[in-house]
Amino acid sequence: MLEIPKIHHRVNSRRCIGVLSSGGDAPGMNAAIRAIVRYALAHQCRVKGILKGYSGLLSEQIIELNLSSVANIIQRGGTVLKTDRCEAFFHNKYRKKAAEILRQNGMDSLIVIGGDGSFAGAHLLEKETGFPTLGVPGTIDNDIPGSEDTIGFDTAVNTAIESIDRIRDTANSHDRIFLVEVMGRNSGFIGLQVGLGGGAETILLPENKLNMSEICATLDRSIRRGKTSSILVVSEGPKPGLANRVSDELKKRGYGSRVCILGHIQRGGAPSAHDRVLASVLGATAVAHLMSGESDAMVGIQNGKVVLVPLAKVVGKKKGVPRLTLELAHMLGI
Ligand code: F6P
Repeated sequence: MLEIPKIHHRVNSRRCIGVLSSGGDAPGMNAAIRAIVRYALAHQCRVKGILKGYSGLLSEQIIELNLSSVANIIQRGGTVLKTDRCEAFFHNKYRKKAAEILRQNGMDSLIVIGGDGSFAGAHLLEKETGFPTLGVPGTIDNDIPGSEDTIGFDTAVNTAIESIDRIRDTANSHDRIFLVEVMGRNSGFIGLQVGLGGGAETILLPENKLNMSEICATLDRSIRRGKTSSILVVSEGPKPGLANRVSDELKKRGYGSRVCILGHIQRGGAPSAHDRVLASVLGATAVAHLMSGESDAMVGIQNGKVVLVPLAKVVGKKKGVPRLTLELAHMLGI
């Protein structure tokens, strides 16, 4: 069970918190929104929901959130606040405008549920305008430095593994090689977790680029051992479609294969129990920290405990996949 830190609120330190979700949606974001609203209201603090991330902030799409606005959403995937990737927020003049809008609408702090790009925006917003911000890590990629876990990762991994189990039935029946492409962009956390949990014979990650001879050598070893089918988990890398390119190369070398790109299937669906609990704890803790006067930081998980990490230690940093786990996955996949 996650350990929640004891945080002392300063009386009346926050009267109205804004909340938005930003970047790719992730299962569990709704559970976080629910926890933020209910924890804040329980401490006599109002909450305003900003629709469509930073874009909705700049176009003043703001609504009051109350207890019933967040009823019956803990089990729902996606985000009821909707989300967006906002290019304009990379420019200082729009961040200045955003701070003005937040203040004019009576908000005194902002919680951003999202990934590293969204936190870069929150960090600059506070640095340049003094408007207090707090991050809640929500992304299926689990690529945020300073936190071992992010909201949505567990659900996405479970969805992908369930798909692999199904694909394995067909792979076995037809004696086929399957390449299953998972999301994660430049980060291999989803690929590694899915590869390990799904029993993949080979795992291709951005952090562990295998060349074609290495991939073929693994396949040959499996064939010599009498295996007639194989699952290769391929992390998408910078842009989707890598599995197709690997499949084409395999064909040139005499190996027939099929490709399944799981894509956005991994982002949708009801959050797992793990993600609901994680989101509830992180959402509530974010409000507690704002009420204690902390900001320009992110709530995260370290050694199974909820911690507060300065955004300066998160933004622009990289989180690497655990090397030994990767070695283990390859050892077990043989
Ligand atoms: O960051 C989450 C993520 O799902 C990545 O894994 C993926 O590369 C990207 O978003 C896809 O983004 P979009 O939904 O904008 O195509």
